[in-house]
Amino acid sequence: MAASVRFAALASGSGTNLQALIDADLGPGEIAFVLVNKAGAKALERAQKAKIPAETLLHADFPSREAFDAELVRRLKAQRIDWVILAGFMRLLTPTFLSAFENRVLNIHPALLPAFPGTHAQRQAFEAKVRISGCTVHLVDSGMDTGPILAQAAVPILPSDTLADLQARILRQEHQLYPRVVRAAAEGRVRQGPAGWQIEGAQNQPEAALLSPAEVLA
Ligand code: GRF
Repeated sequence: MAASVRFAALASGSGTNLQALIDADLGPGEIAFVLVNKAGAKALERAQKAKIPAETLLHADFPSREAFDAELVRRLKAQRIDWVILAGFMRLLTPTFLSAFENRVLNIHPALLPAFPGTHAQRQAFEAKVRISGCTVHLVDSGMDTGPILAQAAVPILPSDTLADLQARILRQEHQLYPRVVRAAAEGRVRQGPAGWQIEGAQNQPEAALLSPAEVLA
């Protein structure tokens, strides 16, 4: 069956989450377009290697956030994009963008929101000496990492861990969690129910699971 739900990924950096999405089975979804906002972002190379249409749009070339976001929307609409995936996209989106893709923008954050929003989340969790951290996939609103939470995966922080250990452990979980949520979105299972936004059927699915130490440390 031909893929029919078109996702665009926006990235600013190395794009390891993008790579996980490219490599995953997204069911009826496909990564149909990649846009980076930084010159030399490795994510661009990954897209090109996978033969996914990819463009660079530098926000420094625009007079305002709104002007940048309006051009972003224009390019995504030109590619007939249904959903937008933020994959390490280091930029807040304005209502100009969000109203064009209302409740159709996903982000992954390297902490268990609402704890440790913003940049340096792993460092903050590490320095706070919490025993559990993880990653969160949420719908994007105009706040910083504040949109409705869809799925989380937890990882332990061990006494022997360095910050780099924690960052790597969280990133491994991101690479598993994000494709699952994107697939659920492609399947039409990201829905607003009486209890708020959720992934339909997630109580029996890995999206809802707390991963055991044996699984994450194996
Ligand atoms: C990840 O830590 C993700 O949680 C955050 O940005 C980082 C992107 O990493 N939003 P990568 O570019 O996917 O490797």
